[in-house]
Amino acid sequence: MPDYVKVMRDGEVAIITLDNPPVNAMSHHLREPLFAALKQARDDDAVKAVVIACAGRTFVSGADITEFNTPKALAEPSLRDLCALLDAFPKPTVAAIHGTAFGGGLELALSCHYRVAVKSAQIGLPEVKLGLLPGAGGTARLPRLTGPVEALKIVSSGNPVAADKAAKLGIVDEVTDGDLAEAAIAFARGKIGTPLAPVSGRSDRIADVDMAAFDAASAEVARKARGLDAPVKCAEAVRNAITMDFDAALKRERELFIELVQGTQSKAQRHLFFAQREAAKVEGVGKEIEARPVKRVGVIGAGTMGGGIAMSFVNGGIPVTLLEMNREALDRGLATIAKNYEISVSRGSMTTEAKDQRLAAFKPTTDYADLAECDLIIEAVYEEMGVKKEVFGKLETVAKPGAILATNTSYLDVNEIAASTARPRDVVGLHFFSPANVMKLLEIVRGNRTAPDVLATALALARKIGKVPVVVGVCHGFVGNRMLSSRSAENEDLLMEGADPAQIDKVFTDFGWPMGPFAMGDLAGLDIGWRNRKALGKTAPIADALCEQGRFGQKTGKGFYIYEEGSRAPKTDPEVSKLIEETARAKGVNRRAISDEEITERTLYPLINEGARILEEGIAARASDIDIVWTNGYGFPIGKGGPMFYADTVGVKTIVERLDHWHGKTGKEVYKPAALLRKIAEADGSFSASKKTG
Ligand code: 3HC
Repeated sequence: MPDYVKVMRDGEVAIITLDNPPVNAMSHHLREPLFAALKQARDDDAVKAVVIACAGRTFVSGADITEFNTPKALAEPSLRDLCALLDAFPKPTVAAIHGTAFGGGLELALSCHYRVAVKSAQIGLPEVKLGLLPGAGGTARLPRLTGPVEALKIVSSGNPVAADKAAKLGIVDEVTDGDLAEAAIAFARGKIGTPLAPVSGRSDRIADVDMAAFDAASAEVARKARGLDAPVKCAEAVRNAITMDFDAALKRERELFIELVQGTQSKAQRHLFFAQREAAKVEGVGKEIEARPVKRVGVIGAGTMGGGIAMSFVNGGIPVTLLEMNREALDRGLATIAKNYEISVSRGSMTTEAKDQRLAAFKPTTDYADLAECDLIIEAVYEEMGVKKEVFGKLETVAKPGAILATNTSYLDVNEIAASTARPRDVVGLHFFSPANVMKLLEIVRGNRTAPDVLATALALARKIGKVPVVVGVCHGFVGNRMLSSRSAENEDLLMEGADPAQIDKVFTDFGWPMGPFAMGDLAGLDIGWRNRKALGKTAPIADALCEQGRFGQKTGKGFYIYEEGSRAPKTDPEVSKLIEETARAKGVNRRAISDEEITERTLYPLINEGARILEEGIAARASDIDIVWTNGYGFPIGKGGPMFYADTVGVKTIVERLDHWHGKTGKEVYKPAALLRKIAEADGSFSASKKTG
């Protein structure tokens, strides 16, 4: 039985050290001995003060998420029992914080009388990111230390706060550069014999609150919540800290926590938490595989994609050699990059100094020979196999041995590109999503000869530059774009059959997507899809007709919608309605009223169906990888957990029945249920999300 809790003495100070790797989560097997150790320290007359510290890489990083909705979560002592014990502790208690005091970890620390932290430590209440609110007094105690408006920011954003800032906010009492244990023990010793003021009993920061400011901040939280319940409940709970007494606020916080933890949104968000970590585990790329060192990255192409990719690496601390065909294109690309950084400065999210440092990390060139010093070279040139092969041919002559050669293709065959070089083991797809400096998703495309250490390097780099990586196999469009293609024809057909762009877009936004497909198409530019369709010999009568009229979307002021001068707000255009009706008539389609339900089924279920095919073919390793792709790259609402998790919530059986229905009606391949989907339905099974989530 491991020693989850150790107690040592330094004179009159007892040091209780928790050791529950990897992140010291508050599992029941830790809570039990901690409760006993605290009671013992409380009752031992020789102990005059207590320090709670943690072994390993971090302070307690939260409740144990794997216990949620299991009997262990309810087993006594609960985290709330521990906090209550600390609240009434008759001797000074000090939390010694290193790493991340998150969630239940911070709540434990807030229940101590004092908090001492190392400079590199972070505190935070990230529960909202799991679709929850802090459930062990965080919403009632934090406002008592830092005031309700600041507390609301921390609770509703879930974002971490660095130790120095936490000290300024009154949450941390001392920040040390030196040895944490020594500092915490000295701090505790200094408090022996002084009057004790538990956080729960303090009221100065919650008295005379500017309620107008708090209401405004709460309203902003609700506005940004976009259908998620947790942020709204977070705001409600922080408000309770002002309007209710401590015990009542605590009780209500608990009720809200239980409501949320049992709800689908939180289950979906917890699924995504573990799914993201699972996605980093790749077959054949174990811990023994060492990543190649990458000190400099080369990016070919300084257009929108190349520029964004280059910025991602520079933002992650890796200098970039940026190559373009000619000086003009290079200067244009660099000017856009500089403008992007200037916007960050004007918004206050970056200092001028940081901007200058980042710009200095770009080495512009028009000479391929300058790529010789790069450890990874990624091309973001025109999406055409001949062009890609030409670039890889040039790279082969200049890249140093062992350099990784990457393509940012969104559709093309990475194996074919790799086979055109003499070093296919070094070739990998790195599919960034636009705008590449913002979007989190990175599809790492594993060719059939890609070396394991190339994948290990890509995974490590992705983490370093703050991306969420998913390793996928080679097929047209990989995971994301392939699934997207499966539904894009449906949007157009629904228009033809009787829906209009605004109705379809509303069904999407009601579901939780940030935008509907037509507003999105107008934003991205309809000419992109038009060009792609032409290249593939495909047509979309309505979208094609719009493009033929020069209606490319927002950039031309007209697309599926019309845009008033200087406005990005889509407005229904009677011209488009007429065009849709005429196109339908010409095709002999009798338009009819289309229900919102039909729109949902016919746009979402083909997506799920294609996801199942992708799993059958082994293009994605797990259903949860697909969910990570869609929530991080395509705006699938996180409260619904991604398409495959959503399929489970609807019931795979129901989805197969509805696909059969639409297949029978339309005969279209996109509705023909994948064999895997049928198999799961027959077994009354599910994609079984993540085994870890309760
Ligand atoms: N419970 C259970 N397992 C957890 C966990 C938690 N709170 N936090 C992390 N883990 C697991 C991860 O799943 C992962 O497992 P694996 O190795 O099997 O994949 C392992 O610990 C390491 O995690 P990371 O890969 O994320 O490690 P990092 O070093 O990159 O990050 C971290 C560490 C910043 C602590 C990050 O793990 C994290 O943000 N964790 C979640 C923190 C959180 O949300 N806390 C609130 C929990 S809810 C709560 O406290 C409710 C309370 O109010 C009652």
